Amino acid sequence: MDKKLLSNVDKEMKIVIEKYKEPKNIKRVLSGMRPTGKLHLGNYFGALKTWLELQDRAESFFFVADWHAITTSYNNLSSLSDNTVEMMADWLAVGIDPEKSTLFVQSWVKEHAELYLLLGMTVPVRWLERNPTYKEMMENLKDRELATYGFLGYPVLQAADIIIYKADVVPVGIDQVPHLELTREIARRFNNFFGKIFPEPKPFLSEAPKLPGLDGRKMSKSYGNCIYLSDMEDEVNSKVKGMVTDPSRVRKTDPGHPEICPVFAYHNIFTDKETVLQIEKECKAGQIGCVQCKRMLAKNLNSFLEPIRSKREKLLSDKKQMVDIFIEGSRKAEYIASETISEVREAMNFLKPEGL
Ligand code: TRP
Ligand code: SF4
Repeated sequence: MDKKLLSNVDKEMKIVIEKYKEPKNIKRVLSGMRPTGKLHLGNYFGALKTWLELQDRAESFFFVADWHAITTSYNNLSSLSDNTVEMMADWLAVGIDPEKSTLFVQSWVKEHAELYLLLGMTVPVRWLERNPTYKEMMENLKDRELATYGFLGYPVLQAADIIIYKADVVPVGIDQVPHLELTREIARRFNNFFGKIFPEPKPFLSEAPKLPGLDGRKMSKSYGNCIYLSDMEDEVNSKVKGMVTDPSRVRKTDPGHPEICPVFAYHNIFTDKETVLQIEKECKAGQIGCVQCKRMLAKNLNSFLEPIRSKREKLLSDKKQMVDIFIEGSRKAEYIASETISEVREAMNFLKPEGL
C-alpha cells in the first residue's frame, strides 16, 4: 500500500474513532470473540485490554462466539471445543474476572438463536449483501463455499447477540464497525415495526497501541508472526531473536531508525520509559546492537507473560472448574436473554402457550 493511501485510511479511521469516541454513561457492555485458537498479544492489546478496563466500569458480558466461528469453518470443526477451552483459559488468565463480568458461551444460551430467527424475518437480504466484511471474506476465502445462508446471516446473529442484552456499548476492533452499524439498523427496524424494545448499541473503539507481528506486518495467526499468551519462555526468546529490525543496521555501529523497527514498537509497550529513550538514542547513534536490544525485550516480554502463563496452566489443570465458570455465566445470561425474548414474543403478538 502506498503512503498516501495509508494516510487516507488512517484519516478515515480517525474519523470513525472520533465519531464513536468514549461513549458516556456506559451501562451495559457486551462483546464476543470467535474461538479460533490460542490468543496472541495482538488480541490482548486489540481487545482484552479494553475488556479489562470496561469490566471495572460497567456491567459487562463477554462470550465465546462459537456459532459465529462455524460460519466460516463448518467443514472442519474438529478443534472447536478445544479452541473454546483455550480461549476461556486465555481470558481468565489475563484477568477477565467472573466476579465482575458475566462470562458465557453463545451456544449455551439458545435464546440468541430464537432472536436471530425472528430478526431474520425482517432484515432485507440486500443489507447483508452490501456488508463490506461479507464481500471481503467472499473474495479472500476462495478455498471453501462461503455463499451459505449462515455466513450471509452472520451480522443478524451478531445483532441478536448484542440487543438481546440491550447492551449499549460494544467494544470491538475498527473492522467490526460495519457490523455494529448494521446492528443499529436492525434494531431500529425492529423497533419501528413492533415498538421500542431495543436500544441502538454503539461500538467502543480503543486506541490500542500498535503492536506489529514478528515480521512487522499486522500480527495475525495466518501470517505465522504471533507471540501467543501461552508461549513458553524459550519460545519467546527464539521468536524475539528472529524478529525483523531496521534493515539498515548490519553492524552495531550503523545508525538505526527505531521508528521503523518492530522491536522498538514492542519496547514502547513492554519497557520502562527511561530505557526506551535510551534505546532510541543509542540505536540512532549506532551504540547498541540489535542482539542486545532484543535480549532486553525478550526479558521484559517474559516478565509480562509469566504470570499469564502460570495462571493459564493452573486453569487448564482443572478444566471442569474453569468450564463451570462459563456454565454459571451462561445461566445468568440466559435469565436476561429470556426476559427479552418474552418481551419480543409479546410485542410480535405470538400466542402464549399458557392460554388465551
Ligand atoms: N464478529 C465478532 C468478531 O469476529 C465476534 C462477535 C460475534 C461479536 N458476536 C458479537 C462481537 C457481538 C461483539 C458483539 O470479532
Ligand atoms: Fe531495532 Fe533495537 Fe536494533 Fe534499533 S537496536 S534497530 S531498536 S532492534
